[in-house]
Amino acid sequence: DIPIFTTVASYREWRRKAFIENRSVGFVPTMGALHEGHLGLGVYIYFIHLNHLLIYIDPSSLILRRSLSENDLTVLSIFVNPAQFAPHEDLETYPRTLERDLKVLAEQQVVASNSDMSSNSIPTLDSNQVKRPSAVFLPSVREMYPGGIEQEIVKQRGTFVEVTAYGEQMEGKSRPGFFRGVATVVTKLFNVIQPTNAYFGQKDIQQALLLRHMVTDLLLSHPSPDHLHIVPTARDPSDNLALSSRNAYLSPAGRKVAPTLYAALKAAEECWLAGEGDEGGKNKNKKECVEIARALVERRIEEARDHGLDVEITLDYIEMNDAGTFEILDDSDTRSSRGNEAAPVILSGAMWVDRTRLIDNLLLGDF
Ligand code: PAJ
Repeated sequence: DIPIFTTVASYREWRRKAFIENRSVGFVPTMGALHEGHLGLGVYIYFIHLNHLLIYIDPSSLILRRSLSENDLTVLSIFVNPAQFAPHEDLETYPRTLERDLKVLAEQQVVASNSDMSSNSIPTLDSNQVKRPSAVFLPSVREMYPGGIEQEIVKQRGTFVEVTAYGEQMEGKSRPGFFRGVATVVTKLFNVIQPTNAYFGQKDIQQALLLRHMVTDLLLSHPSPDHLHIVPTARDPSDNLALSSRNAYLSPAGRKVAPTLYAALKAAEECWLAGEGDEGGKNKNKKECVEIARALVERRIEEARDHGLDVEITLDYIEMNDAGTFEILDDSDTRSSRGNEAAPVILSGAMWVDRTRLIDNLLLGDF
């Protein structure tokens, strides 16, 4: 069984040994309700070896499995952070599936990365080349917020990590205070876990990029900014819906229309790519591309109504933002913060399906 640490002090004891033994620690922070987006969905190739079924996967695109393959030890944390939920949001109902999470975690294993992935030959394996999660950090709210935590920012007492302009764009505009809550808890988690490497999903791209800024700004060393890794979004292979703990809230009709957001982002991406040959390049037609995406959502809403689907879809936003500053790019911005045309753009959106808020994004240009 994987050791579970519920207190900061007990985890620190474990971490001290890893420091002494000079072993690298990979860290995957989560709020639980684990799904393949947290663990890793990818190209599975199964090998039967010494009567054991081993899962051999491309470790480059998978979150927990990437940590397992790149570090001596891997720690995953499960903590539903009250500070990142506004009073009207879903803190109480957020899915909590601890027993299943721990069971699923105990089943995770990868082949150590020192086996040769590039050749077509089946790697030779022995049991010490298989890596599993080393520890789970499962703190109580008291442990993480010794002074307690109020949902309403105006009532909060204590020390928080404030994120300026970056945190007010995109998701921060729709969810004021959200990134303050995320930055605060992740700072605390980094201080406890002291990871060599930390892994975040592209699914929450603004969160990941903003935390990289934070690590730089606060001069953190564990992880250092270049050891904070962003892992591609895992999707349902049948319809590309980005996997999310909140998908559990969807009704069958809601689940059916949920991939609309991805489809809209894809349409905008296609439009953006088509602008390549135009004068001013791809950055010229952003407005038009975003409009195409919005129109697609409108069409799907009408279709759902025509088919009598019992579901309500509302678009929150679809935007193209500078990946450096998160500022909205419009057609007049022919250059982005990097000052060249291929500079990275975040194409992202949020959509309500009944009472569930879904987010997704695609990265355009050179990331
Ligand atoms: P949570 O939503 O549980 O996500 C944990 C990590 O898994 C995040 O880095 C998230 O981006 C990643 N993730 C979720 N769905 C994914 C998908 N479909 N593909 C790839 N990665 C995916 O994000 C949080 O928790 C919290 O804000 C946290 C960072 C733990 C701070 O409380």
